[in-house]
Amino acid sequence: MRLKNKIALVTGAATGIGAAVAKHFASEGAVTYATYHTKGKGRHQSSQENGILEYVKMDVRDESSWLEVRKMIEARHGRLDVLVNNAGVVLDVDNVAATTLEQWNNTMAVNATGAFLGCHTMLELLKKSEAASIVNVVSSIVFKPDVLVAYASSKAAMWGLTRSIALYCSREKLPIRCNSVHPGGVETEMLRDFIEAAPDPAAVREFAVQNQLIKRFAEPIEIARFIAYLASDEASFVTGAAFPIDGGLSIN
Ligand SMILES: NC(=O)c1ccc[n+]([C@@H]2O[C@H](COP(=O)([O-])OP(=O)(O)OC[C@H]3O[C@@H](n4cnc5c(N)ncnc54)[C@H](O)[C@@H]3O)[C@@H](O)[C@H]2O)c1
Repeated sequence: MRLKNKIALVTGAATGIGAAVAKHFASEGAVTYATYHTKGKGRHQSSQENGILEYVKMDVRDESSWLEVRKMIEARHGRLDVLVNNAGVVLDVDNVAATTLEQWNNTMAVNATGAFLGCHTMLELLKKSEAASIVNVVSSIVFKPDVLVAYASSKAAMWGLTRSIALYCSREKLPIRCNSVHPGGVETEMLRDFIEAAPDPAAVREFAVQNQLIKRFAEPIEIARFIAYLASDEASFVTGAAFPIDGGLSIN
């Protein structure tokens, strides 16, 4: 089990990629805290696989929410080994003409500020780990641009954040690696809702799939397995890096 004895925190883990990551982490032996926001409400009981999976409520936009979770993890374990900033939102319609300031602010607050708050509030606990890893779930949109103005900007911010933190941790001689993963199309609620909101969903789906070298969308577990590698000590020489997991979308 590659994550045995690791203490991990995964945000936005009631659904989609985050849910797959949290379950996979537990199956790899980690004590995993999986945060949920509104979706998945009530799923806060502990369940045992090879590791432990426990659901905790959190709004990643809210610093006090992070501090509460930090207090709980600190009291129980005194350290954090893995932080996965996965929680995210996308607007149905997102372009420079249509996106309102309120929509822009909320997208930035969840995707970019949420990831910053995760790193900022958890740093002291990550420092206590012998070998910590932060993984930010960004998007292939930073390599393969699209008109989604708030989403693309928030994800570009997360990419910048990743490299800034990797550099900081090196300069401060902290045992913390920080990397980003960049999924393309993944079969989750977010992607399905986004496609369903389009005037011709079937055409949008077909166009997106054909745009990739591998002609299908990913399953969440295919992203989760790569994140587990980055979280583990097998990736001990990997930091500051950005990994497309997009079926070849970004080079097509
Ligand atoms: N599905 C894709 O095709 C795809 C592609 C590239 C990147 N991503 C990224 O992957 C991540 C996971 O997305 P997904 O596809 O699994 O979608 P999803 O909608 O299933 O998951 C997003 C999760 O974030 C949570 N969330 C939203 N606002 C929150 C808040 N304020 N506080 C805490 N949690 C909040 C939601 O409750 C949800 O569980 C996102 O960051 C997304 O941008 C997804």
